[in-house]
Amino acid sequence: MTEAYPITDHTYDCVVVGAGGAGLRATFGMTKAGLKTACITKVFPTRSHTVAAQGGIGAALGNMDEDSWQWHMYDTVKGSDWLGDQDAIEYMCRNAPQAVYELEHFGVPFSRNEEGKIYQRPFGGHMKNFGEAPVPRACAAADRTGHAILHTLYQQSLRHDAEFFVEFIALDLIMDEDGECRGVIAWNLEDGSIHRFRAQTTVLASGGYGRAWFSCTSAHTCTGDGHGMVARAGLPLQDMEFVQFHPTGIYGAGVLITEGARGEGGYLTNSNGERFMERYAPTAKDLASRDVVSRAMTVEILEGRGVGDEQDHIMLHLEHLGADMLAERLPGISESAKVFAGVDVTRDPIPVIPTVHYNMGGIPTNIHGEVLRPTKDDPDAVCPGLMAIGEAACVSVHGANRLGTNSLLDIVVFGRAAALRARDTLKAGAEQKSLAKDSADKALDRFDKMRHANGELPTAKIRDDMQRTMQRDAAVFRDATVLADGKKKIDDIVGGLGEISINDRSMIWNSDLVEALELENLLACAQATVHSALNREESRGAHARDDFPERNDETWMKHTVAWLDDGNTVKLDYRPVHTWTLTDEVEYIEPKARVY
Ligand code: FUM
Repeated sequence: MTEAYPITDHTYDCVVVGAGGAGLRATFGMTKAGLKTACITKVFPTRSHTVAAQGGIGAALGNMDEDSWQWHMYDTVKGSDWLGDQDAIEYMCRNAPQAVYELEHFGVPFSRNEEGKIYQRPFGGHMKNFGEAPVPRACAAADRTGHAILHTLYQQSLRHDAEFFVEFIALDLIMDEDGECRGVIAWNLEDGSIHRFRAQTTVLASGGYGRAWFSCTSAHTCTGDGHGMVARAGLPLQDMEFVQFHPTGIYGAGVLITEGARGEGGYLTNSNGERFMERYAPTAKDLASRDVVSRAMTVEILEGRGVGDEQDHIMLHLEHLGADMLAERLPGISESAKVFAGVDVTRDPIPVIPTVHYNMGGIPTNIHGEVLRPTKDDPDAVCPGLMAIGEAACVSVHGANRLGTNSLLDIVVFGRAAALRARDTLKAGAEQKSLAKDSADKALDRFDKMRHANGELPTAKIRDDMQRTMQRDAAVFRDATVLADGKKKIDDIVGGLGEISINDRSMIWNSDLVEALELENLLACAQATVHSALNREESRGAHARDDFPERNDETWMKHTVAWLDDGNTVKLDYRPVHTWTLTDEVEYIEPKARVY
């Protein structure tokens, strides 16, 4: 290190990294349980990416039509293309109605049906009676459901006096010699100070890594920070090859148009004006699951039926729904279409294209949010002191493809589960072992090296190379040639990180340095993604291989486990999918062909 950094020490029972829906639900749940809890976040809590979720949160309330959590479970297993762990899926779907009523009581202003109950709309892949016909299951606050939930959870956190450290950048985990996590090192952007948070449990709720791609619906903050910290701590990432493309990102802007638009009756057409989804998914049509719709749109474009001068996009029609309905149910996306596409949705269709939206893979955990460090003898072995929840985690309820609305559900169900686990296993104020003298050195060495980096390449150039490579080579359709090319390019870009140049050496509000640290995290994610994708020689959910077009349960019904080491090599391993349920109220759902 060229410089000594004074450290401010803190001791908490729990430290949560990230203040999106999952982080906030865990934070105030832990605080409520009497545990001294800090939430550290790089943006103000209500700016977290949960705010962007639009169409709804999935729960079988049955307010608009008959529904059951067992049907929800079936749809989620089928949506996951049988890569989801069925015990975790059972836990999530069974707890969904309670989680939504809890949100309602916390104050979420859900839209209402004529009976005054929570309004629900259809969403892709959510069906009644084990796949028969679409069912309205997405509990919605107009098309701003994430916004409503995030603000409510933040208010609950304030109500419970949770402590926030805002605009703090988490740098690295503190791991002790027994492989236990003991806290996290963070940098306060406002005054440039370095902080060491010691905790009985550290919870990563740091979101996904959509910004590894050129075009995505993710906020600029979605840079896989928790993933990067985990990889540097010698822990693995799971199922990183499974990346969701949302069918309806606005062409050219990447901004999300909710699937709720199709749930309310919107539909897609190609350059012939044809409602082509009828050919690909005769039952669910435009409400088939996301991977199916995104692939269908991509095929239409590749076969020359795309719209526009470049024949490179598809049209989403809402104009037949009427101005009143659009204003009441879809006001947010009506505004987005105007601002980002110049389209008045009451008159014209919106140009859309499949856009990176969600990472099914992430930090492997069990249903309590505890992070796994799988071994040959015990694929479910836990890393003490560390939890992960939300999009950062892979629990795995989404498997190879997430159903829309299940991410908002995931964050509240597993945010709560982590809080319950902490309540049940930790003692408030319990004495913690003292930390080794050098417990911050590794994190600060990395920080210092980056801060003084003096190479030739600006962060923006390296990031652009990474994003363009991922966009081209880790796309809706893949094959060995493009993936091998992507793997080589991303490995080279990682190898070239030493050439990065940082112009600003200050400790205060140094966005140049923040972006470089984020880039390092993104690259770890990108590397795990392309290596895992090249190795998986089958098509499953969002991982569609032209050269291996079929799902192969015999060989590949298993989770990819990717270990990155400091030398930038990736070692791949596999662990079994959980093929059991939690209770005997439901049976294991046997794999079958996935048609909609
Ligand atoms: O389409 C949407 O409103 C997105 C929802 C989700 O990703 O769950």
